[in-house]
Amino acid sequence: MIPQETIQLILETARIEEVIGEFVPLKRRGVNLLGNCPFHNEKTPSFTVSPAKGIYKCFGCGAAGNSSKFLMEHEHFSYPEALKYLAKKYHIPVEEEEQSAEQKQSSTERESLYHVSEFAKDYFVQTLWEDNKGKAIALSYLRERGLSDSLIKKFELGYSPDEWTAFSDYAQTNSYPLQSLEKTGLTIVKENNKLFDRFKGRVMFPIHNLSGRVIGFGGRILKTEKSAAKYLNSPESDIYSKSKVLYGIYFAKQAILKTDNCFLVEGYTDVISLHQSGIENVVASSGTSLTSDQIRLIKRFTPNITILYDGDTAGIKASFRGIDMILEQGMNVKIVLFPEGEDPDSYARSHATHEVEEFLDSKADDFIRFKTKLLYEEAANDPIKRGGLIKEIVQSIAVIPDEIMRSVYVKECSLLLDIPEQALVNDLNKRLRKASKENKHSYQEPARYIETSAPPQVQIKQENKSPLEYQEENLIRLLLQYGNQSFEYRFKENEDAEESVIEVNVAGFIVEQLDDDGLGFFNPVYQEIYEAYKKGLDEEKLPTQHTFINHSNEKMVKIAADVLSTPYSLSENWIKKERIHVLTEEELLLQTVNNSVLSFKQRKLEQEISLLQNELKEAPDADKEKVIMLILKKQNIQKLISERLGRIVLK
Ligand code: CTP
Ligand code: MN
Repeated sequence: MIPQETIQLILETARIEEVIGEFVPLKRRGVNLLGNCPFHNEKTPSFTVSPAKGIYKCFGCGAAGNSSKFLMEHEHFSYPEALKYLAKKYHIPVEEEEQSAEQKQSSTERESLYHVSEFAKDYFVQTLWEDNKGKAIALSYLRERGLSDSLIKKFELGYSPDEWTAFSDYAQTNSYPLQSLEKTGLTIVKENNKLFDRFKGRVMFPIHNLSGRVIGFGGRILKTEKSAAKYLNSPESDIYSKSKVLYGIYFAKQAILKTDNCFLVEGYTDVISLHQSGIENVVASSGTSLTSDQIRLIKRFTPNITILYDGDTAGIKASFRGIDMILEQGMNVKIVLFPEGEDPDSYARSHATHEVEEFLDSKADDFIRFKTKLLYEEAANDPIKRGGLIKEIVQSIAVIPDEIMRSVYVKECSLLLDIPEQALVNDLNKRLRKASKENKHSYQEPARYIETSAPPQVQIKQENKSPLEYQEENLIRLLLQYGNQSFEYRFKENEDAEESVIEVNVAGFIVEQLDDDGLGFFNPVYQEIYEAYKKGLDEEKLPTQHTFINHSNEKMVKIAADVLSTPYSLSENWIKKERIHVLTEEELLLQTVNNSVLSFKQRKLEQEISLLQNELKEAPDADKEKVIMLILKKQNIQKLISERLGRIVLK
């Protein structure tokens, strides 16, 4: 447990724009910052971050909250994990009790997988640097590959001892449940319940998610056994899904933002070697072609991808289909082809940093141009192939969402191929028509965005609030926004009495008005907020916005962020037309609060009346009159309130 004061300190210190900025590129827009919502797929940004209030809100999907809520939704942290992450980021010491054996057993399954992966990583790192065999075999291997010690440490590379159960035994001695060891794949349990270390005798490459947590491993064999696979990878688990992760993204994200480009390579060692050359905006697909989730992951940081190829032509051609998927997302794709026998890793090792940079810079070719040239060379003397060529190229152009881009490519390809532009256009239009008929056109929003670790709980914005809900929300908004603000309230006890003036604050006014009629809120979270103000009035210490923005109840945080980020200002709409005079801010506030309370009461009455009307239908004849009287009485109050609100009563 983290002490309450520390939690407050953490949440007050956290700067929401910095916290979210690590995951979502944000641009300043007036007092707020704006970006593309990470919780749903969107083309025009509607994700707003308010540094002043410490909240975020997406006007597209309705996601809202404070720094810790963001981390919980985005990174799937538990509340304590989110707090610890923030504490680390802002160098706030958190006294953390060592977990007891029971706690380790009982922590949630997901958490437990994270913990065991973290533990394994530490163990492998320790073995690499401190164990005699680790040093002699694995560390020397990595150094021989040209990796500096600091880079080996940065990527948290390690070594799994060449013994059948060294890791599994150590983990179990440290009370990590076998179930988690098995689920992460670190331990393999055979039928006879015998245990084996999956990564026995391998150099370990931990795979980090976007926030730097270890979610899986790749292990490279050291011996040159033909029978064993060169790399072994963690199996899919609750925290590791190969198709949604990119190796190196955690270490690359800042550099991707800065350079506005992402290099894509095949392997673990390519990523690390390029880092060694000072090129940090690089991720690996780990030997497979990109999935749409991985593309979207990159797209959150940049629309530009440069793919580094080391394969032969056949391999490259096989990957063309996959690249269309990237184009379809509206991204710009470039290709760099490495000289035969070289991959990014070997090239980076044998060339100086500036040579690598120059090479990547000069060789990067636009994908469509690259594809066109490559296919053209092959088809040069083959008229049948040339026919197919147009189709192949148009296929890639057709998926590009931007019309102008499409026409630029059509022009360029017609020149490269020496084919009239119109021939390409005809083919293109045919394809576009077909695509739109099949209704799977590329301009459509792709399937809903899925996050790296697990799908977020996206709440779709609900606009169909009932009138009562709306009025409840309105009062809560006034409490949160103006609760502490005071105004003079003039009133007469009765017709003949002298006018009294009292100074009240908005919270006091609302509480008194509602308490008089014994009214409360239907929504339990609203009721809790309301009661916090009531208690605050009694104790003469009113809550502030931050009480709720940084509350430990997630629902509260969401509601506070929602209410406070809705554009809202006191408006004169309330005031009857004939009473036109310029109101002071205070008068306006009074009117707004007063009328909001009345409208709320009005809706409550409406609800009560409709309940009574239902009751009337069921009631035995003898009781009918009583119910009717009650209805009439309530309708009478309604009328009075309507008059005070200056509204026309329709019935
Ligand atoms: N890979 C894998 N399983 C294999 C071979 C490869 O998962 N049996 C993945 C790994 O992520 C690897 C990538 O594909 O990093 C590229 O494979 P390769 O080029 O063979 O490996 P390198 O990263 O170049 O490794 P090294 O330089 O150590 O041979
Ligand atoms: Mn290699």
